[in-house]
Amino acid sequence: MSSNFKKPFSTPNLNIFETSEDASIYVAHLIAALIRERQKQGQHAVLGLATGTTPKIVYQELIRMHNIEGLSFSNVISFNLDEYYPIPSNDERSFSYFMHNHLFQHVDIAPHNIHIPNFNCSNADIINHCVDYDQKIIKAGGIDIQLLGIGRNGHIGFNEPGSDFDSVTRLVDLDMATKEDALRDFISLEEVPSHAISIGIHNISRAKKIILLALGERKSKIIKTALQGEVTTMLPASVLQDLSQVEFVLDKEAGMLLG
Ligand code: F6R
Repeated sequence: MSSNFKKPFSTPNLNIFETSEDASIYVAHLIAALIRERQKQGQHAVLGLATGTTPKIVYQELIRMHNIEGLSFSNVISFNLDEYYPIPSNDERSFSYFMHNHLFQHVDIAPHNIHIPNFNCSNADIINHCVDYDQKIIKAGGIDIQLLGIGRNGHIGFNEPGSDFDSVTRLVDLDMATKEDALRDFISLEEVPSHAISIGIHNISRAKKIILLALGERKSKIIKTALQGEVTTMLPASVLQDLSQVEFVLDKEAGMLLG
């Protein structure tokens, strides 16, 4: 994969690229630059990571940089956005499996620096687990770069429409649109978990830099409303309009309806 990319046009916090590969490689390079800068300073880089189709090429490019350019993840601390609840620990559809498969097992990140909401915790432990997750983020110094995808319904993480802008890590009910989208991995709607543990919009908003990556025509409508419509809890990603540390990174298809 080439590491050259072309920037057709940009505004301070909106970059639209010709292809999904160009957009993804640009994001991977932002992440790699942070990791390297922190390495020079002898510090950790704290990454907030997403799963799904959107970040796959970003992770591929990071792995390529690890293999070919010696990019080390030894100073990386990661916090994933979310995980289905409940889901068996060895289930290939869990986000934990996804992250190991698409990134962690290919790089030199220390296992103790990987954080993913725990699909194994008991019902009684969920609240403590969520409080603990938030505290671990704070203890790590906060998230330096939060990578986000966007759901068809405007969710970020699994903060579904109606989520409070000051929400923190918690157990959430999954929206029907989210469950329907998850059908690509599950055999039937009944099999899709109805809950997840997700970090909250407050956690996301506190990240020092937020990158929302959206790829493909199927994201164009929600991107138009999220970026140019009303800021409302009914469209969680709209909260990003008011945050100066956000960068929207789109391919041409995802940005096609923006005026
Ligand atoms: C994934 C997550 C979700 C996805 C969103 C887009 O960890 O938190 O918000 O980013 O559902 O999913 P894809 O990329 O599959 O279209």
